[in-house]
Amino acid sequence: MTPDSERARELPTGWTFFRQWLKNPIRVAAISPSSKQLARQMMSQLPPTCRRIIELGGGTGVFTEALLGHGIAPADLLVLELNEELHQHLVRLFPGVGVVCGDAGDLRRIAESHGFAGEQPADAVISGLGLLSMPRSIQQGIISAAFDCMPPEGRFVQFTYGPANPVMREVIESLGLVARRASFTWWNVPPATVYVYQRRTSRAIAPRSMR
Ligand SMILES: C[S@@+](CC[C@H](N)C(=O)[O-])C[C@H]1O[C@@H](n2cnc3c(N)ncnc32)[C@H](O)[C@@H]1O
Repeated sequence: MTPDSERARELPTGWTFFRQWLKNPIRVAAISPSSKQLARQMMSQLPPTCRRIIELGGGTGVFTEALLGHGIAPADLLVLELNEELHQHLVRLFPGVGVVCGDAGDLRRIAESHGFAGEQPADAVISGLGLLSMPRSIQQGIISAAFDCMPPEGRFVQFTYGPANPVMREVIESLGLVARRASFTWWNVPPATVYVYQRRTSRAIAPRSMR
């Protein structure tokens, strides 16, 4: 069986995900994997010429699958997943992708040891983490490390089930970021909003007249 057809067989993994949610609802942060519609909206916020991506909180691999479908080569994708069972699931499903069982709070070290910082940075970080339930210091540590792994025009793409920006204002300000509410979908359980964060000084977000 080819890796693609194997993935197609294994991807309806709501039960795997739900079991992990029962064990740790705060950390897993959702009762079911994201929808394909939400995955498409996340992909549409990637920089147009992106090549290397870091995914935080891979879960059952909905975004991983979408990233590969978007044209990202397996070797240019680094996925962090803290839950051991979900990590094993991702390793089985995505041969060739760098899937690490690790904490996004340790992103700087993990990215460096997998060659996703310095000379070969990531173009974007896609996050499925439940940022809303994280204390400020943890949010700040993860997002700061994510921007350290990207060039100045890098993007941090995040979804939320909440009604407002999931990253605290103090975190956005202290890291010199700007936030943009990019899209919303009812076709997800629960409905979700996509936010994009970039450095304030990034050329990618400067007004046209300033370019
Ligand atoms: C809301 S789920 C999203 C899963 C998947 N991206 C999706 O959209 O279906 C959050 C995922 O992040 C993982 N996670 C939570 N905290 C984490 C951390 N500190 N580091 C890495 N992964 C984490 C959880 O185990 C879970 O799989």
